[in-house]
Amino acid sequence: MKTIDFKILVIMTTIILTNVTANNSEANDKPIVKHEFPALPYAYNSLEPYIDAQTMELHYSKHHKAYYDNFIKAITGTELENKELKEIFSGVSKASAAVRNMGGGYYNHVIFWNNLSPETGNISIDLAKAIDESFGSLNNFKEEFNKASSSVFGSGWAWLIVSEKDNKLKITTTPNQDNTLMDIASEKGTPLLTIDVWEHAYYLKYQNRRAEYINAFWNVVNWTEVNKRYEEWQKSKK
Ligand SMILES: [Fe+2]
Repeated sequence: MKTIDFKILVIMTTIILTNVTANNSEANDKPIVKHEFPALPYAYNSLEPYIDAQTMELHYSKHHKAYYDNFIKAITGTELENKELKEIFSGVSKASAAVRNMGGGYYNHVIFWNNLSPETGNISIDLAKAIDESFGSLNNFKEEFNKASSSVFGSGWAWLIVSEKDNKLKITTTPNQDNTLMDIASEKGTPLLTIDVWEHAYYLKYQNRRAEYINAFWNVVNWTEVNKRYEEWQKSKK
């Protein structure tokens, strides 16, 4: 190989390597954001007789899907497009009503579907301890959660969270599609368990009897998932 050819080869190799490095570093700097519409983790009829198949199908494939589609529409082409949900929620007071309502509707239902299951599992030792510390007993916790869920005026959600203020478990409620990751929430924290008390979640089977729906909910709570969320929170604090 002539000297001049060798020089050209070296220059070209350097250019290629520099570009690869630059592209990789760009890719590493960019948050990986994938706002996907996740599959329901069980069949529509799996939660019967507590939550009926028709309600599940409409709730997931129509209501939840609409929140998701409208959320994607609301963020597409804006600076929020490549942000993670947590970041969007932490500044939601400055975002449009569509981002708040549709983003909340998208996220809240994902949490809700995952904390339901025909296989309920058992509460972990750590979570049971935290529940006892905050509420006295599991029964007291359930009673307080039921009261909070029943007291939501109109449409909204009740939550078991780890409070951002003191790292203790708390029960709280949010109106409409708000959640406890939003900067506008009166009580902020990490969601562990939630119940959707919008009428669309129960009206076909329970009509105006929201309390019956809330009682039935406990038969299909996926404690394995709730334990996992609590463990993840614990790990994030270490
Ligand atoms: Fe809902």
